[in-house]
Amino acid sequence: MPDIESLRLAFAQHGQSHVFAFWDQLDEQGRAALAGQLSKIDFDDLALLRRTLDGALAGASGSAAGTAAPMAPAPVAVLEGKALADATARGEAELRAGRVAALVVAGGQGSRLGFDGPKGCFPVGPVTDAPLFFFHARKLLALETRFGRPVPFYIMTSETNDAATRACFRENGFFGLDEKNVFFFVQGMWPALSPEGRIILDGRDHVFFGPDGHGGTLSALRRSGALADMEARGISSVFYFQVDNPMVEVADPAFVGYHVATGSDYSVKVCAKRDPNEGLGVVVERGGRTEIVEYTEFTDEQKNERGADGELRYKYGSVAIHVFSVPFLAREAAAGLPLHVAHKKVPHVDASGRVVKPSSPNAYKFEKFIFDALRDAKKSVCVAFDREAEFSPVKNAEGSDSPATCRADLSRKWARWLAAAGVALETDAKGYPARRIEIDPAFAADPETLKAKLAGVALPAAGDILLKA
Ligand code: UD1
Repeated sequence: MPDIESLRLAFAQHGQSHVFAFWDQLDEQGRAALAGQLSKIDFDDLALLRRTLDGALAGASGSAAGTAAPMAPAPVAVLEGKALADATARGEAELRAGRVAALVVAGGQGSRLGFDGPKGCFPVGPVTDAPLFFFHARKLLALETRFGRPVPFYIMTSETNDAATRACFRENGFFGLDEKNVFFFVQGMWPALSPEGRIILDGRDHVFFGPDGHGGTLSALRRSGALADMEARGISSVFYFQVDNPMVEVADPAFVGYHVATGSDYSVKVCAKRDPNEGLGVVVERGGRTEIVEYTEFTDEQKNERGADGELRYKYGSVAIHVFSVPFLAREAAAGLPLHVAHKKVPHVDASGRVVKPSSPNAYKFEKFIFDALRDAKKSVCVAFDREAEFSPVKNAEGSDSPATCRADLSRKWARWLAAAGVALETDAKGYPARRIEIDPAFAADPETLKAKLAGVALPAAGDILLKA
C-alpha cells in the first residue's frame, strides 16, 4: 500500500482531505482500494481540471460559433471520375505497402442501448446477429487478403470494458485476424468535481472516475506504446472510426489515397446533413484555421442559412471518420488537447457514507474531443461521401440510429450490391429489400468482388440471404 501519511498530507495540501472522511471505518481491503485509486491521481492534472472548471463557471467559452471571428464552411472535395480513380490508386498503393492502420474508439458502453457490455459486442448482423466488431475486423481481413499486407487494428477500450472486449475477440478467434496485428489500449479516466472543485467519492472507499473522451485517444496511444508500435511497423496513415457504425468502409483506398496525395495531417469524411438540425459537427474555417464546431454551438439562423443556389451554407456534417498522419498523431499526443466540461449526474456518498443517485446534475465531468486536434493540422482536407452507403450508427434503443434502422440499412446496402451483381431483389420505394441480407466482408467487401464471386452461383429464391466466407 502507498504511504498513507504522505497521501493524506498531499490531499490536504490540495484541499481534498475529504477523500479520507471514511478511512477509519474501512477494512484493510477498502483502505487498499482507496489508497490505490488516490495514488493514481496526478495533482497537475487535478489543477488543470480545477482551472478548466473555474473558467467554465466564470462563463469562458471555448470555440462557440457565436464568437467574433467570421466563419465559413471549409471546402469539401467530391471525388469523381479521374480524381476518384487517382485517389483510389494511391490508397491501394499505400495498403499494398503496408503503410495503413485502423483505429476504432470503443471505450463506450452500450448503456443508451440498454446493452450490458462493450458496444462493439452489440449484435447487428441482420441474419446472424454478428457483433459490430465482426464487421470491422472482417473488413480488415478482406483488405489483407486483397493487398497482401495486414492493416494493424488498434482498439481503444476503457477500464470498464477492456477485459470484456479482449474476451469477445478471443472467443471469436479474433474474427480471423492474426492476434499479433490487433492492439488493445485503454483510455484514461478523470475524476469528476463538485462545483467547489472537490473530488467526488461514490463509495466510502471509492473515487468516481469517468472516461476522458475520445480525445483521450492521443495520450492513450502514447502511454500504451501503440504509437511506437505504429512507428515500428512503418505505418504512415491511421484510419480512425467509431465502433457504433457497421457501415463504415474501413480504410477505404480513395479516402486514404486522397489524404496521402494532398499531404494532409488530418482528413475528415463529411456527408450532407439529413436536415439543418441534425446533430453533426461542422467543419469550418475561422481565423485562418480549420476546425470542427459542434452543432450545439450553431445558432438556428446559422443552421438554416442558404446560399444563392438554395443549398444550406453549412450543408455537410462530420460523422467521426478521419485519417491521421502518424507524425501528426505523435505531435498531438505530446501537445495535449483542451478539456470540455459537462454538468452531469454523478453518484456520490452523503455525510453518513450512503450512496446517493442524484436526480439532477450535481457535478462536472471532463472530456477531450479528438476533433479539437484539427485546429493544429498544418494541412487538412474534407471529402464528401454518400451516407446511405457508409453511415448508419447504433446509438439508441429505438427510433432513429437504432438496431432496427441499422440492420435495415445494412440489408439495403447489400441489396444494392446484389442488384449491381445482377441479382434483382424486390425492394420498397426507398430501396429496402423484403428479405434479410447479410454479406460477410471476408466473402465480399465491395460490389465488384461480390459480382465476381457470384458469377454462376444461384442464390436461394426465398428467405434470408447469407453469404459467408
Ligand atoms: C458523436 C460525435 C458527433 C458525431 C457522431 C457521429 C462527439 C462529441 N460527438 O456523437 O460529432 O457526428 O458521433 O456518429 O464526439 N468513445 C470512447 N471513449 C469516450 C467517449 C466516446 O471510446 O470516452 C467512443 C464511443 O465508444 C463511440 C464514439 O467514441 O464509438 C462516440 O461516442 P458517443 O458518446 O457515442 O458520441 P455521440 O454522442 O454519438
